Amino acid sequence: MIPEKLRNRLSMPAMVAPLFLVSGPDLVVESCKAGFVGSFPTLNQRTPEGLEQWLVEIRNRLSNAHAPFGAQFGIHRTNPRQAPDLALAIKYEVPIVITTLGITREITDAIHAYGGLVFHDATTVKHAVKAIDANVDGVIAVSQGAGGHAGTINPFAFLTELRPVVGDRILILAGAISNGRSAAGAIAAGADMVSLGTCFVPTIESMAPVEQKQMVVDSTADDIIYTDEISGIGASFLAQTLKKFRKTNEPKKGFDVAEEINPKLWRDYWSAGQGVGGSSEIIPARALCERIIEDYAVGLTRAEFGAGWRASAPNDRS
Ligand SMILES: Cc1cc2nc3c(=O)[nH]c(=O)nc-3n(C[C@H](O)[C@H](O)[C@H](O)COP(=O)(O)O)c2cc1C
Repeated sequence: MIPEKLRNRLSMPAMVAPLFLVSGPDLVVESCKAGFVGSFPTLNQRTPEGLEQWLVEIRNRLSNAHAPFGAQFGIHRTNPRQAPDLALAIKYEVPIVITTLGITREITDAIHAYGGLVFHDATTVKHAVKAIDANVDGVIAVSQGAGGHAGTINPFAFLTELRPVVGDRILILAGAISNGRSAAGAIAAGADMVSLGTCFVPTIESMAPVEQKQMVVDSTADDIIYTDEISGIGASFLAQTLKKFRKTNEPKKGFDVAEEINPKLWRDYWSAGQGVGGSSEIIPARALCERIIEDYAVGLTRAEFGAGWRASAPNDRS
């Protein structure tokens, strides 16, 4: 369930996901102005000082008339930026703190103390249960086919198992949602909100190189490879970039956030999810949001009328 204070500021129940090396202030601000939660990973700024500048800039460019923004934090013992970045989140009262890898009660208490919300990325029910134990406000179910560190669970199966676990908190579905009809389908299937990543890579405001944007536009789901060989945990990549850069016989790595924040890795191997087929051109983020909002209305109508079908009790048919 989406709390009123968040619902009132959204055009539809959607957020633009944090995207490494892709999301910066322009994408966040344009998304929020369109009524989507805009977000970015704190590691997109190379230093805490740079992060502070972004937080000041985003705060100055947005008001309460817009959707709130979110920042994403990697909670892991190997992340040297965890403590300084979280301190900045508290100082600047980041409205939505998105955590990945880990979460503690101490962190959620600190964010709740200033009225912020905490969403946690989960790829398994076990991760979601841990996050709820830490008192998060929302669970982002990162399902099969998502860009970045995707899960492996089918979204219908994941929503079915997570809905009772998440209860009255916010259940957000992520993974290959690239248009409003898919968003409406996710809501019909039990999500409260959706998170869209890949389809915002080919936007004008995205910081991705134009070649990466064009590759997303030109690709289909067949071009997406899911592998743990690049970063140590499973993630989705555009096959074209793996062919170009893959070095054979490299030993498989263990997971280490210090390696994760090595931008070279993600600069060489471009990530995208199976929803790439939903992108057909490079457009302004606000235009994309507007297109998704219109299409969401179409999707809700399809869900309501079952595209020509209405459920009927067996008796009605006698
Ligand atoms: C290019 C790209 C970069 C991403 N970077 C991150 C990241 O830094 N941290 C993170 O938690 N998720 C990251 N993700 C995953 C997204 O936050 C989100 O879960 C995912 O994009 C949703 O699925 P979709 O891409 O199919 O819409 C990334 C995804 C993409 C496509």
